[in-house]
Amino acid sequence: MATDPASSFPVSGLRSPVSSASFPVSGLRYPVSLRVVFVGHVDHGKSTLIGRILEETGSLPEGKIDALRATCKAEGRRFEYAFLLDALAEEQQQNVTIDTTQIQFRSARRSYVIVDAPGHEEFLKNMITGAASAEAAVVVIAADEGAREQSRRHGQLLSLLGIRQIVVAVNKMDLANYSESAFREIEQTYGEFLQTRGLKAAAFVPISASTGTNVVSNGDPALAWFKGPSLLQAIDKLEAAESAAQQPLRFPVQDIYRMENRRTLVGRIESGTLRVGDQLLFSPHHKTARVATIERWPSSSADFASAGESVGITLRDHIFVERGHIASHEVDAPIESNRVYARVFWIGAEPLRVGARYRLKLVTQNVECQVVSLGNVIDAATLGAAAADRTELRMNEVGEVTLQTRAPLVLDNHERVPTMGRFILADENALLGGGIISGALYTSPKAVKSENIFWSESEITAERRALRNQHRGAVVWLTGLSGAGKSTIARALEKELFRLSMHTYVLDGDNLRHGLNANLGFAPEDRAENIRRVSEVAKLMADAGTVVITSFISPYRADRARARAIALQAGAEFVEIFVDAPLAICEQRDPKGLYQKARSGKLKGFTGIDAPYESPEDPEIVVCTDEQTSAESVDQILTELLPRLRLGNG
Ligand code: ADX
Repeated sequence: MATDPASSFPVSGLRSPVSSASFPVSGLRYPVSLRVVFVGHVDHGKSTLIGRILEETGSLPEGKIDALRATCKAEGRRFEYAFLLDALAEEQQQNVTIDTTQIQFRSARRSYVIVDAPGHEEFLKNMITGAASAEAAVVVIAADEGAREQSRRHGQLLSLLGIRQIVVAVNKMDLANYSESAFREIEQTYGEFLQTRGLKAAAFVPISASTGTNVVSNGDPALAWFKGPSLLQAIDKLEAAESAAQQPLRFPVQDIYRMENRRTLVGRIESGTLRVGDQLLFSPHHKTARVATIERWPSSSADFASAGESVGITLRDHIFVERGHIASHEVDAPIESNRVYARVFWIGAEPLRVGARYRLKLVTQNVECQVVSLGNVIDAATLGAAAADRTELRMNEVGEVTLQTRAPLVLDNHERVPTMGRFILADENALLGGGIISGALYTSPKAVKSENIFWSESEITAERRALRNQHRGAVVWLTGLSGAGKSTIARALEKELFRLSMHTYVLDGDNLRHGLNANLGFAPEDRAENIRRVSEVAKLMADAGTVVITSFISPYRADRARARAIALQAGAEFVEIFVDAPLAICEQRDPKGLYQKARSGKLKGFTGIDAPYESPEDPEIVVCTDEQTSAESVDQILTELLPRLRLGNG
C-alpha cells in the first residue's frame, strides 16, 4: 500500500521526513513490559547498577560475566560492570537486527526494557520524537556525595518529559557506612526538590550496586534500619502504561482508495481496537458511520483489528472523509483544538522564532501552524535554563511553546495516547523539531440532538472559494465589556478589510438582537443561546468565504470555547480578540447610559455590574482600548490577522 513517509514520522527517528522509513514494526512500540530509563551523575554508579541488575536477574547470556572477569584478570584490570555494558553494546552494534539502545531484563513480576540515556540531548530527542519512550525512571544518587546539580537537572529532564513514575536509588551506601542519616538527608532534600518540579518519587531505596546490597532482594543486615523494599521490588510496584490496544481507538486515515464505487480508508491503527459494525466518529468533521468491512493485505478480511495493524476499512454510510481525519469511537473521542501548548525540542539550524510558520505533522495530519509564544527554554545538553524572555529557540534547546494551527488539530493528552500527543515541526524540506503536547485550548465536540439529518457536501469547497476570493474565510471573535469598544473596532476593521477587497461582514450584538435573536434576553441561558446561534451563523459565513467579525460581549468562557469549536469543525480559522478596557473606563464612557441605569437598579443583570464577565485566558489578540486609539488597535489586529487569511496549502 502507498505510504506517505512523512506521515509515519513519529516512530522513525529523526531523519528528514522526506527520507524517513515507512511503517514501524507492529507491536514493538508498546510492549507490555515497563520501559525504564536510568539517569544519574556520571560517577554515581549507573552502569554498575544496570550490570548488577542484569546479572542478578539472570538476564545475561550464559557465561558472559565469567568470560569478562577472565578477560579483565588476564589484562590485569579490576572487573567492572561498566565493561559489561560496553561489551553488550558492542555486540549489539555488530548485530544490526537488535536495537542498540535497548537492554532487557525480567523480574518475577514482568519484563523490563532499559531505555539508554547516553546523553541528555540524544535521550530528549528520542523521547520527544517517540523514537524511544520511557514510562518510568530510576534516578541514581551516590550516598557519599548526595544530590548534585546534575541530579537536579535529571529531575528537570523527567519533568520536561512528563515521566511521573520515579524511584530514587541512593547508591554507594557501603561508602557511607550504611548510614541512615546520610540516606534520610538525600531523601529529604531531593524529595523537596522533586516537589518543586511537580514530581514525587514512588520510593527512595538505599542500595549498593557494587556489593549488591538491597538491589534485588531486601532485608540485608547492613541496612537493618531500612524496612522498605529492594530497588527491584520498588520498580516492580510501578504501573506499566496501558498497552496501545487498551487505549481508546485512534485510526488516522492515511489514504483513500477508490475502486468500482467502493471507497477503502487505509491507515494504521495507532491505538485501541476496531470491529466490523462499530460506529466510528471521524474528527474533526464529526461525521459518523459504521464499519462495513475490515481488509488486511494482501487479501484477507477480518472482523477485528487492533493497535499496530495497518488495515483498510469500508463504511456502510457514505460520508465525507479525507486523509488526516481520525476515526475513534464516539464515547471516547479525541480532543480538537487549534491552540496547543507543547514542549518542543529544536534541531533546526535556523532557530524557531515567535511568529514564524511551520508545518505541524501529527500522525497523518499535516497543518500549518504559527508560533504564538515561547516560555521557558532549556539547553538540552546541560539542562540549564536559558535567560528569560527569549523569542527564539535554538538548536538543541527545549522550550515551552504555544502554537496556533490554521486548521483544527485532532490530538490527545500525551500521557493518555502517546502517539496522538506528539508531533513534529518541519518546513518544506526538512524536519526541524519534535514536540510533546502538554495542553490545548479545549474545544468540545459537537452535540447533535436530532437524528436522521444528513449533511450534504458541496463540490465547491472552502479551498475553491478561497482561491477565487484570494483569501480565506475566518471568524474574528471580539469579546469584551459593554463600552470597551468592540463595535467601533469591528466597524473600523471591516472598513479596512473591505478596502483591501476582502469579503467581510460584521455580526453585531445589538443588531442581531433585533432579528435572529429577538426572543432572547440576558439571563445566562439566553446569552448562551445568543452566542451559540451567532457561532453557527459565523461558521456558515466563514465557510462561504467571508471574514466574519463578531461583536458580542460573550461573557462566558464556555460559550466562546464552543464558538471556537463550531468554527473549527467547519475548518474555519478562529481568532479570539479580547477588547480590553477597565470596567471603570467603560462605565465612564457609558455610550448608551446603561451603566448608569444598572447602578441605579433600573437595569438588572448588567455585565460587569451584577452579571459576570469572564476574561479570555489565552486569546489570540488583546487590544487595550484605554491605552491605544481604535486606529492603533485595528493596525495591531491587521498585522496578526492578514497573514492568517492569505492562501497557503494549509
Ligand atoms: S451577550 O452577553 O449576549 O453577548 P450582546 O453582545 O448580545 O450580549 O448584547 C449586549 C448589548 O445589549 C449591550 O451592548 C447593551 O447595549 C445591551 N444590553 C441590554 N441589557 C444588557 C445586560 N443586562 N447586560 C449586557 N448588555 C445589555
